Amino acid sequence: MPKYRRFSDASMSEKMLDTMFLITIGIGYFFALANLYYTHQGRDGKPGLSMDDVIDAYYGSHNQTRLGAAINGPMEPNLPNEAAKRTILDWIQHGATKKEWEEKVKPIMDNNCIVCHSAQSGLPIPHFTKYENVVALTKTDTGATIPTLVRVSHIHLFGIAFILFFVGRIFILCEIPVLLKRTVMVVPFVFLLMDISSWYVTKIIPGFAYVVVTAGGLLGVSLGFQILVSLWQMWFYRPKSVPTEL
Ligand code: HEC
Repeated sequence: MPKYRRFSDASMSEKMLDTMFLITIGIGYFFALANLYYTHQGRDGKPGLSMDDVIDAYYGSHNQTRLGAAINGPMEPNLPNEAAKRTILDWIQHGATKKEWEEKVKPIMDNNCIVCHSAQSGLPIPHFTKYENVVALTKTDTGATIPTLVRVSHIHLFGIAFILFFVGRIFILCEIPVLLKRTVMVVPFVFLLMDISSWYVTKIIPGFAYVVVTAGGLLGVSLGFQILVSLWQMWFYRPKSVPTEL
């Protein structure tokens, strides 16, 4: 039987190095969470971090357009009634076609908007006399771009793989049931891959935001477990038997 190393075999110096590393990673993790909060909170217009913020970040806010935001906000008083607003919002929703614009939307704008939104007014605002100018304001925010996701993916994969590897190397020295040890060691890598691949899926299917958040959360839980169990075993656990399996 080969003898595998355990914390009881580690020198005081090694345990001190491990401890400082684990504590620093733990603190780093909380800053990562705080960073996540500050990057995404309030995206959906409401303060605080919610699932809608995550959806907006990856999928985009497909019903928030400059035109939609204007008639739901500052430009609303210029519309005669709720039905006119509904007509314009539906038109955006249907893909802002030229045909529907001419039939339904242009009459509303001719009557209510072009007093100001035209060359005659002299105001430095878009002219709603032309379809092209209006349709330009109906482009949706489609969330994170592929180049951005690719950039963040490679940083995350390299960076987090390193963290998981070194934390795992330390955690291996614990004395816990071997199946539990192997699971806790391997699953964070799986969660990491799930988390990152679901960013791309969320771009197409907004519901995948739940997978992003769940996988990210579980990664944190397994990392936290490894750190806490390692620290406990390193300093407070007295081994009962000679370990036989890594
Ligand atoms: C009394 C003049 C006036 C009328 C009438 C008016 N607007 Fe405006 N609109 C403005 C001004 C001034 C701005 C720029 C300042 C601002 O954004 O609040 C603006 C801005 C906008 C913007 C933002 C443009 C951008 O670059 O993002 C949209 C969209 C818009 N209006 C839509 C409408 C619609 C639709 C109507 C008709 C229902 C309308 N407005 C009627 C004066 C007007």
